[in-house]
Amino acid sequence: MVVHSVKTNQEDIYKNLEAVVRKYAATTFLRPVADHTRDAFEQACEFVRAFYGTASAECAEVVLDSGCGTGESSIHLARKFPNVPVIGVDKSAERLTKAGNEHQLKHAVAGSMELPTNVFWVRAELLDFWRLALEKVNAGEWKILHHALYYPNPWPKESEATRRFHLHPIFPTLLRLSPVTELRTNWGIYAREFKEAARIAGDLLSLNLDVEYGTFSPENPETAFERKYRAAGQELFKVTTFGHSSR
Ligand SMILES: C[S@@+](CC[C@H](N)C(=O)[O-])C[C@H]1O[C@@H](n2cnc3c(N)ncnc32)[C@H](O)[C@@H]1O
Repeated sequence: MVVHSVKTNQEDIYKNLEAVVRKYAATTFLRPVADHTRDAFEQACEFVRAFYGTASAECAEVVLDSGCGTGESSIHLARKFPNVPVIGVDKSAERLTKAGNEHQLKHAVAGSMELPTNVFWVRAELLDFWRLALEKVNAGEWKILHHALYYPNPWPKESEATRRFHLHPIFPTLLRLSPVTELRTNWGIYAREFKEAARIAGDLLSLNLDVEYGTFSPENPETAFERKYRAAGQELFKVTTFGHSSR
């Protein structure tokens, strides 16, 4: 895969960012949840239930890897959180078929070719999966300890800006899912927008968020895209929100 840096006609953060974020902080995203994502979500719930088994706690701790692509990052997360089920979600069946294959394990795991038993991949639409997951969080059945959002599609044309997660009606749901949301991107404008949108929406929704922003340089890349961006010498950005859901 050839990796170009992001080409955009935007010179700075989206000019209507504040108005868009304010509008969506005051509305609810009502699009019906697709049946296939409901089924996929049920599979993820079953994995979590089976993982905890008879030791099943009332509130199950979970880690979410959203837009996991070929799933390499899910393996890293599964190693960082060995006692917690890690759910990798992507809508691309083709990418998910590579999840956990030998080539990937070689990249993802220094010294071990074993696939962690706490990782589970599922094909689903995030805009629906997140709303179902938030119902679980609000019901006190799930606690999403860490939400990884690594290299989401940037939608770099200004005319497509409202397809970016932080400029979409889903954003309040996304921010409420987990006390720790970690965005990684190779596009500085996207990172600054996400930071700004999280700050604005966090205040409006009384989420009490701390938002950290910066560049980083991974010694061991954790996703397929991250490895390629790094090899191409691109600057990488990270935004992390820390906070509490306000229910
Ligand atoms: C640029 S790739 C990054 C993949 C992976 N995180 C990585 O770093 O290698 C973005 C991924 O997000 C997935 N994706 C984008 N929008 C999605 C959505 N609404 N629902 C589910 N997956 C989505 C795509 O299928 C793709 O695999």
